[in-house]
Amino acid sequence: MGRLDGKTALVTGAARGIGAGIAERFAAEGAAVITADRRDEPGEAVAASIRERGGRALYVHLDVTSGADWSAGVERAVAELGGVDVLVNNAGIIRVKPFEQTTLEDLRRVLDTNLVGAFLGMQAVLGSMRARGGGSIVNFSSVQGLEGREGMSAYAASKFGVRGLTRSVAIELGVHGIRVNTIVPGPTRTRMTEREGWTDAQYDAAYRGYPLGRMARAGEIASLALFLASDESSFCTGADFVADGGVTAGKPRG
Ligand SMILES: NC(=O)c1ccc[n+]([C@@H]2O[C@H](COP(=O)([O-])OP(=O)(O)OC[C@H]3O[C@@H](n4cnc5c(N)ncnc54)[C@H](O)[C@@H]3O)[C@@H](O)[C@H]2O)c1
Repeated sequence: MGRLDGKTALVTGAARGIGAGIAERFAAEGAAVITADRRDEPGEAVAASIRERGGRALYVHLDVTSGADWSAGVERAVAELGGVDVLVNNAGIIRVKPFEQTTLEDLRRVLDTNLVGAFLGMQAVLGSMRARGGGSIVNFSSVQGLEGREGMSAYAASKFGVRGLTRSVAIELGVHGIRVNTIVPGPTRTRMTEREGWTDAQYDAAYRGYPLGRMARAGEIASLALFLASDESSFCTGADFVADGGVTAGKPRG
């Protein structure tokens, strides 16, 4: 028996990285998965590889900043898979720039994707979740949603915002059986954190001073998403779930 048997999950940013890891993991646990992204070819490839392994998956082109894309994506999920039980607002972008060089356009792009995208997504699935008697929404923050960092003013603003959005919406939606939680990942090996020419050892060395001394792999964040999507987390809502290898616990001496 799968931990998500009978559930339908829509995962944004599912064409690669953490989102692809979540889509694959959910499908392996019995969910029908909508892989949503604005990158069509890799997004379709993730859905196809799930189907090849006997799972149920459907790719939809969905730019999370577009209300029209959200309406169309959720309509397809309802028509072809019966509705949405789980929404993972994973799609995100980063701009690393000193504050003085960060433009209003940079700030708006980052807020639009990371914060407004989650807002639109939650509103889009509400009707379907209510009709199905409840659901689970998982929003993505970051350790930069707990602590500021140089060069990350726009990103941190968006990720602090996601935590406030989650808590407030959770308070309103509990009555409908809809749980809303935030995942707070630490540094994870994906394209977002890629540096040209770096080896595995170099990536992990950058975090040697922290408790687990390495970066996460996408599957380790997907494990937490699976817990929050499943009924195993039935009493969790409005909360932050940190998977950061101890990065925000503090740096040990020496
Ligand atoms: N990688 C890390 O170290 C790390 C740490 C903390 C939090 N996060 C968060 O985890 C989430 C996933 O990050 P990742 O590392 O897998 O990134 P990634 O860059 O590897 O993948 C992000 C995916 O989101 C998609 N996307 C971006 N903008 C979109 C839009 N407007 N509409 C639809 N899809 C869009 C991209 O096409 C891509 O497939 C993000 O929210 C990120 O902020 C990542």
